[in-house]
Amino acid sequence: MSGKSSVTARWHFGIPIYEKKLPNFSSRAPSITQHLYRLKDQDKGITRSNQGGWHSSDTLHLTEHPDSKWLMHRILQVATNIIKSFEDDRPYKEIRMVAAWANINYRGNWNAPHEHLPCTWSGVFYVDAGEPGKDSDQNSLDGQVLFFDPLPLGREWKRPPATGYKPTAGTMLLFPSFLTHMVAPYYGEKPRISIAFNMVVDR
Ligand SMILES: [Fe+2]
Repeated sequence: MSGKSSVTARWHFGIPIYEKKLPNFSSRAPSITQHLYRLKDQDKGITRSNQGGWHSSDTLHLTEHPDSKWLMHRILQVATNIIKSFEDDRPYKEIRMVAAWANINYRGNWNAPHEHLPCTWSGVFYVDAGEPGKDSDQNSLDGQVLFFDPLPLGREWKRPPATGYKPTAGTMLLFPSFLTHMVAPYYGEKPRISIAFNMVVDR
């Protein structure tokens, strides 16, 4: 499938990574950005995989801020629809968002390799993708999210060890929580703002 408002599914090493641009986000972006900076002023944040930057506490899915609430609801809807189509006719009890948190990354920040087990699906939405570093060229991994092949066979076996995604504002990625990933050092001067989340499928 293609087109601005449809879901794109790409399979890498037998594992799906879904991408979807959320319509109507851009008009709400300034208010959501302002809200996240306000949260940052009140919450010194936590350290998980983030090497520098700010990582909020993980209850952003429960926010009452109107535009952020709208966004979290849209993310939940889109993720739920993707998971439902993946499940097809396999039975499940419920699909739930169990955590969400904001990240603000500054020049030089990165995220070490990690996965989101024991959750089922995880994702990230880019509120502001920032900008490329002034010394970064086309081939640079600058701030890309890198997903690692769980079976690292290498190029000889036509399986490059990782695949990279360049963040785009207003776009969401959804991937299985077991999939190890990292964020390469970000070199833009403008802060990058993202919201990450975890979903669980109850059987
Ligand atoms: Fe992650």
